[in-house]
Amino acid sequence: MGLLSGKTALITGAARGIGKAIALKMASEGANIAFTDLKIDELAQATEAEIAALGVKAKGYASNAANFEETHTVVEQIHKDFGSIDILVNNAGITKDTLMLRMTEAQWDAVLTVNLKSAFNFIHACAPIMMRQRGGSIINMSSVVGVSGNAGQCNYSASKAGMIGLAKSTAKELGSRGIRANCIAPGFILTDMTAQLSEEVRKQWAEQIPLRRGGTPEDVANVALFLASDLSSYVSGQVIHCCGGMNM
Ligand code: NAI
Repeated sequence: MGLLSGKTALITGAARGIGKAIALKMASEGANIAFTDLKIDELAQATEAEIAALGVKAKGYASNAANFEETHTVVEQIHKDFGSIDILVNNAGITKDTLMLRMTEAQWDAVLTVNLKSAFNFIHACAPIMMRQRGGSIINMSSVVGVSGNAGQCNYSASKAGMIGLAKSTAKELGSRGIRANCIAPGFILTDMTAQLSEEVRKQWAEQIPLRRGGTPEDVANVALFLASDLSSYVSGQVIHCCGGMNM
């Protein structure tokens, strides 16, 4: 018996990176996995096959998490296909970094919509299902910069701070129905998102981290497993930092 045997986890933006690592970790503990991404291309199909190879049900769905209607349609389909939704991980996210005075309205809107509104969309669609089940665990992917702010990332930091407010409000509104909501605040994690940064910038980041290394997607997935499982049954409305101590 795994920690998540018999549960269904829905993870957004999980064709690659942190979302994929979370999907594999939860599957290795027995959860059936529904995941979304913008496209179900070869990469996403390979992810689906990797998850299914762990002996659970796995299916990827093409869906733009930023779109309210599309989200409700895909959640309805996933509920039909899997029969329950016990764990929701709001992981889909993008960056459009630049200094505030250079930032365009489009850059602001895109990041806030994909990173923050998407989480509202999925919680709005999944909460009635979880309420009927009288239980669920919601995990919002925030970031260390959602707590500390970061020059050149005012849109991203604001979206990730918003994820914290959204999780805390959800925890307060839905706690009486047995639904928990928490955030993970990853620091510098080695994925395609951070691969966009120069070698120099990545070196500077590592020097600021007490553990002197970037995190791996698996480091974040371990925290997600804790928050999804009954190991965290009395943890709600919290932000768990997974950053090698760089937030101190
Ligand atoms: P990534 O760029 O490797 O993966 C993000 C995934 O989300 C991609 O598969 C992408 O196609 C998908 N996606 C983007 N927009 C979408 C949309 N509108 N609808 C559905 N899917 C969409 O990123 P990574 O590094 O795996 O990040 C995952 C989450 O963790 C993001 O929310 C990110 O902000 C957060 N995070 C990442 C950190 C890092 O250092 N890599 C640090 C802190 C937070």
